[in-house]
Parts: sequence; C-alpha cells; structure tokens
Amino acid sequence: MFKNILVPVDGSHYSANAAIKAVCIAKKYGSKVKLLHVVNHSQLYSLGPAQSMPVITNTMLEALNKGGQSILEDTLKAINPLTVMVEAELAWGTPANVILEKAREKPYDLIVMGSRGLGAMLSLLQGSVSERVVKLSTCPVMIVKDR
Ligand SMILES: Nc1ncnc2c1ncn2[C@@H]1O[C@H](COP(=O)(O)OP(=O)(O)OP(=O)(O)O)[C@@H](O)[C@H]1O
Ligand SMILES: [Mg+2]
Repeated sequence: MFKNILVPVDGSHYSANAAIKAVCIAKKYGSKVKLLHVVNHSQLYSLGPAQSMPVITNTMLEALNKGGQSILEDTLKAINPLTVMVEAELAWGTPANVILEKAREKPYDLIVMGSRGLGAMLSLLQGSVSERVVKLSTCPVMIVKDR
C-alpha cells in the first residue's frame, strides 16, 4: 500500500517525531523510507555581509551542506530504524517546492511530515512548508502534530 514513504526533515523535534511515525508505518507495510532535507538556498543571502550584491563563497556553501548532512544524521540516530530500509537525501532549493517535486518524480505513495518545524512561532498551528505541501501534493500527506 505504501511502498515508498517520503519524510521531509528540518532538524526539529516535530520532524523527528514524524520520522518515527513513518518508520512504524514502514514496518507494518514493508515500505522504504526516504529522509529528505532541503537546504533553503535563501539562507545564503543571510550568511554574507550586508551589501547590495551578495557574494556566495564556497565556505558558505560548505557550511550549509554540512548543517544539512548533520540534520539527516541526527534524524537517522533518533529513529534507529533497524528492520526498515531508510535512505537519506540532501537537496537544495525552496523546501516546499523541492518536497513536492521529489514526491511527484518517484512517485512516493505517502509523505509524512511535522505540522511545524524549526521556525515554530507558538501562535501558529501549522508552518508554511507543511501547509503548502498539504495544499499542493498529489499523494496522501500525513501531518504529525505535537502535543
Ligand atoms: N528545509 C526543510 N527540508 C525538509 N523538510 C522540511 C524543511 N522545513 C520544514 N520541513 C518539514 O515541514 C514540517 C513543518 O515545518 P514548517 O517549516 O512548515 O514549520 P515552521 O518551521 O514551524 O514554520 P515556518 O518555516 O513557516 O516559519 C517540518 O516538521 C518538516 O517535516
Ligand atoms: Mg520552517
């Protein structure tokens, strides 16, 4: 039923909880799980010195790449998949757009993600990434809410 599950992660406990739920579903259905972290390329412009023409250096690219890899590694540690096949992928772009593209490309049968993430403002019930994915996804989406 759910052969391939896509789990977008941003390093928040919301997305770690979502990944744990995805692994439970995968155990039941024998699914493969793909963890996906999207480095938001708009961050590049906030890293450099304030100036009219932003300069993107290799050091900035490496820092973002390293940060993204550790988000994936930490999530893998948190879910401790054991009997489930889990892969991890790092991509660059606008998170919601990349998640939607990847989901359509394979295609995935289910997306499991957190309701909120690292940007969590207490007044918001849902973040902008999960909201956009729910709105535009062509495959089922499971939104994992936190207590
Ligand atoms: N850069 C990302 N790469 C992969 N998945 C992401 C990324 N950002 C968010 N997600 C996924 O979307 C879920 C909801 O996060 P979202 O960004 O929508 O909420 P937020 O950070 O609270 O709000 P906002 O980003 O709008 O300020 C996360 O739990 C995670 O599953
Ligand atoms: Mg966010």
